Amino acid sequence: MNKIRAAITGIEAFLPDYVLTNDELSRMVDTSNEWIMQRVGIKERRILKGEGLATSDMGAEATKKLLSKMGVKPEEIDLVLVATVTPDMAFPSTACIIAEKSGIKNFWGFDVSAACSGFLFTLQTAAHFIESGKYKKVLLVAADKMSSITDYTDRSTCILFGDAAVAMLLEPTTDEVGVMDYILQADGSGKDSLYLKAGGSLKPASHATVDAKEHFMYQDGKTVFKIAVSKMADVSVAMMEKNHINADDLAWFVPHQANLRIIDAVGRRMGIPKEKVMINIERYGNTTAATIPLCLWELEKSLKKDDKLILSTFGGGYTWGSIYLKWAYNSK
Ligand code: ACO
Repeated sequence: MNKIRAAITGIEAFLPDYVLTNDELSRMVDTSNEWIMQRVGIKERRILKGEGLATSDMGAEATKKLLSKMGVKPEEIDLVLVATVTPDMAFPSTACIIAEKSGIKNFWGFDVSAACSGFLFTLQTAAHFIESGKYKKVLLVAADKMSSITDYTDRSTCILFGDAAVAMLLEPTTDEVGVMDYILQADGSGKDSLYLKAGGSLKPASHATVDAKEHFMYQDGKTVFKIAVSKMADVSVAMMEKNHINADDLAWFVPHQANLRIIDAVGRRMGIPKEKVMINIERYGNTTAATIPLCLWELEKSLKKDDKLILSTFGGGYTWGSIYLKWAYNSK
């Protein structure tokens, strides 16, 4: 019998309506469209506005669209995994809340915290569950409301991030498609370069932590930039070599969208022509867990069964890695 693999069989996204442009940011902090386009490559990002709206609301909207598009009933979902660093609250998990808002009842599930590597770490986790043979329909949601931890007076971070959610269905297949291989890695020595200082058990919320703006994400951009380029390039090249894939074989390289200069540098190291590198950072910015699936959602119509994709990421932790995926279906 052929090996059971995990195939992505459907994908849907939710993007908030509000568009935060570089011009608007230039009125909020000392920056310019020219600087942002040149140094990062972002034109605009989406922001979830509205009292009481959280990561789970975006995730539930994407989930409901996905279930309706796929003709899958909520009760058919047996596992819900959510990649996020902006959970609605420390507990219960956003997986529980998204399930509740989407009518999913007979399930278990949990959140995965791996910053910008959240999607790849969660995809591989889902793949292991499916490969066990026990799980038939796994819902994976990658969602972040980065605006909830962004300091809009700090020009070095507020230009980078946006909000979005993507939901995908994973099902078992015995065809030679789906999640084919993975290299995922982490190095906790990166903990001081990219993190949220307060709000956890180390520094519970207090007047002092609020006054010191410690509930906003902190990033040592220069350090992270250098490591991101080298780790993402190394792991992407290693994945291609391990699976004997060359630039001609590859349909798409789908990198995490943190900075256009990082994407360009990694693509060059891999020897991939620009037209095979998926880029949408200019329209959405860095949506953390959601960037890679947002790319897949935008590519869906053009992807064909058996297309070979390399997905690669780098994020807080540090965490990084690559997944080799063979697309499982032709879009209708
Ligand atoms: N507008 C104008 N000037 C700015 C801005 C801005 N928005 N931001 C910073 N500057 C200034 C700085 O103050 C500095 O000025 P100075 O020389 O007078 O001190 C100058 O520009 C250069 O600053 P750098 O920080 O060196 O700028 P850099 O070119 O490194 O770009 C950036 C900063 C975009 C953050 C870049 O370092 C980067 O992309 N880092 C990696 C991001 C990443 O990959 N993160 C990982 C994933 S995120 C996650 O896991 C949640």
